[in-house]
Amino acid sequence: MEDRIAALQTEAVAAIESATDRKSLDAARVTHLGKSGGITRLSEGMRDVSKDDRPRLGKLLNELRQAVNAALEARELALATESDAAALAALDITLPGTRSETGSIHPLTHLLDKAVGIFRRLGFVLADGPDIETEWHCFDALNTPADHPARNEQDTFYLPDGRLLRTHTSSVQVRVMESQAPPVRIIAPGAAYRRDEVDATHLAQFTQMEGLYVDRQVSVADLKGTLEYFFRELFGPETEIRFRPHFFPFTEPSYEIDIRAQALGGKWMELAGCGMVDPAVFEGICQKRGDRVFDPEEVTGFAFGFGLDRLAMNLIQIPDIRMLVENDLRFLQQFPA
Ligand code: PHE
Repeated sequence: MEDRIAALQTEAVAAIESATDRKSLDAARVTHLGKSGGITRLSEGMRDVSKDDRPRLGKLLNELRQAVNAALEARELALATESDAAALAALDITLPGTRSETGSIHPLTHLLDKAVGIFRRLGFVLADGPDIETEWHCFDALNTPADHPARNEQDTFYLPDGRLLRTHTSSVQVRVMESQAPPVRIIAPGAAYRRDEVDATHLAQFTQMEGLYVDRQVSVADLKGTLEYFFRELFGPETEIRFRPHFFPFTEPSYEIDIRAQALGGKWMELAGCGMVDPAVFEGICQKRGDRVFDPEEVTGFAFGFGLDRLAMNLIQIPDIRMLVENDLRFLQQFPA
C-alpha cells in the first residue's frame, strides 16, 4: 500500500505539472481526485487494512491528498499568470487614448444668459409660450387685424389646422396676461419664425427676447429708463440709445430703438421695438379672462421685443448669420466661455 501511495503521488504531480491549459489540468484533477479516481479508490481500500496499519496509512493517504491539491493550486495560479501576461503583451499602452471633447457656450446662448441676468436683477422673471401658436395669441389678441400684412400667408408658416409658427415672442405677453394678474414683470426669450429667404442676413428662424411690465402708473419714463439701464449694462456705460417714433398695432405710443456702442462696432444699429401696451390689448384680455384685472383705466404697461441674432453677429463680428446655426465646431471653438 505504501508503494502504491508513493507511485500515485509521483504520477499525479507529474500529470498536473505538465498540464498546459485549464482543460488538461481539469482532466488531471478528475483522473486523480474524481469519484472513480486513483486516490478515491485507495481510500476505499482502507476498509481491508488491519487496525494497526490504519492510522499510519490514513496519514499517508491524507498527505497524498494534500500534495495533489497543492500541486493543482500551484499549477492553476501559474496558468492564470501566463494568460494574464499574454493578454498584457497584446495591449499597446503607447496607443493614444480617446479624448473627451469639452463643449463651449454658443455665442447666442452667452448673450442670452447675460441679458436674462440683467433683467432678473431688475425683478423680471422668465415666462414661456409655445412656438406653435394660435392666430389669436399671435395676432388678434395683439390688436393685429386679419388684413394686416404680417398675417399674409407669404410671411408666415401656417399649419393645416390653422395654427402657425409664432412670428414674434409677443404672443407670450398674451399668454402671461391670460394666466396672471398684475403686477406682471416678465421676459420671454425664444424662437420666432418668418418666411424669409435664407441668406447672409436672414434666417427663417431667429431668436427674440420679449419683455412686459404691467402695473398701476407704469409710464414711458419707466420704459425708457429700464431699456437704457439694460443696454448700458449689456454693452457698457457709454452706450447711446435713441427712441424713434414707430407703429406697432399692440403698443401706443410705439418706438423703435437704435443703439450705438463700441462693443457693437461703433455704428448706430436698429435694434428693438417697444411701446406702451395699447388699451385695446388690455380690453381683449379682459374679455378673454372674464374679469377686469387688466382694466386699461386701472393699469398701464410697457412691452418691448428685440432680436438677439444680429446683436450676437455684431458682438463677435461675423459677416453671415448662418454661422450661428451651422453647428460647425471650428466656428464654435473660437468662443471659449
Ligand atoms: N413684436 C415686435 C416685432 O417682432 C417687437 C415689439 C415687441 C414691439 C413688443 C413692441 C412691443 O417686431
